[in-house]
Amino acid sequence: MAATSLTAPPSFSGLRRISPKLDAAVSSHQSFFHRVNSSTRLVSSSSSSHRSPRGVVAMAGSGKFFVGGNWKCNGTKDSIAKLVSDLNSATLEADVDVVVSPPFVYIDQVKSSLTDRIDISGQNSWVGKGGAFTGEISVEQLKDLGCKWVILGHSERRHVIGEKDEFIGKKAAYALSEGLGVIACIGEKLEEREAGKTFDVCFAQLKAFADAVPSWENIVVAYEPVWAIGTGKVASPQQAQEVHVAVRGWLKKNVSEEVASKTRIIYGGSVNGGNSAELAKEEDIDGFLVGGASLKGPEFATIVNSVTSKKVAA
Ligand code: PGA
Repeated sequence: MAATSLTAPPSFSGLRRISPKLDAAVSSHQSFFHRVNSSTRLVSSSSSSHRSPRGVVAMAGSGKFFVGGNWKCNGTKDSIAKLVSDLNSATLEADVDVVVSPPFVYIDQVKSSLTDRIDISGQNSWVGKGGAFTGEISVEQLKDLGCKWVILGHSERRHVIGEKDEFIGKKAAYALSEGLGVIACIGEKLEEREAGKTFDVCFAQLKAFADAVPSWENIVVAYEPVWAIGTGKVASPQQAQEVHVAVRGWLKKNVSEEVASKTRIIYGGSVNGGNSAELAKEEDIDGFLVGGASLKGPEFATIVNSVTSKKVAA
């Protein structure tokens, strides 16, 4: 682990919820978290006196809230034109990085019609420079179309297509080396959760990224439990928070304190306009990766705007 002495990142603007239980969960990293906690609890007890004792809504990480819409293999020219028009007319909170990830064949259409307020991501990319790789899309091509991000390691690519941890790590390293940001997905299957292996699986997937990438500067980690993706079975805020804390702890222990603090850890899996506000209140949930609900412009905007429930006390 690269030991980095803790200096509060100058850009830190988040608040941290008071949560002794969660602090205990990361007790092995307690000095770091306690220092962040004490230096960033910005809501005074008097200003929150009408709230519950845990009622300071918070961000443990120092990054900006991040919401990505993963359109997967959905849409037609017409339906995408409608979605873009709805997104263009939506009112989005300023303090959120917003990204959408159309199918490759519609990226150009989206780029030329979507407001610059929203960045564009690929849903995958080839592991190296483009060339004789039938059916693949290169990082260079994504950049050529104006993409700023790429989603890598999505569970549908891991478990339906069969991509392995090491291959995904290499893809991330290549995309980063070419200047794309990476939305690095991790998450356990139902049987792995039931066998008590959630952390083992997530940490192994994280390690494959960590072993390959030279820097975490341009990475957003998306925790997406496979059992919650496209199933309507969203993780409870506590279930998501528990894993997000563990991921941040893993980054602190195995990468650096600075990376643990700065890296956005977003949640994905059946997020919708009705559950995003509650999830967003959890201090280690720094945003969302949204599938189905991102195909509806107004609902996606509601999810983006759930950042407000982070800023306002519970
Ligand atoms: P979902 O998909 O929101 O439809 O569950 C999330 C994802 O796969 O990123």
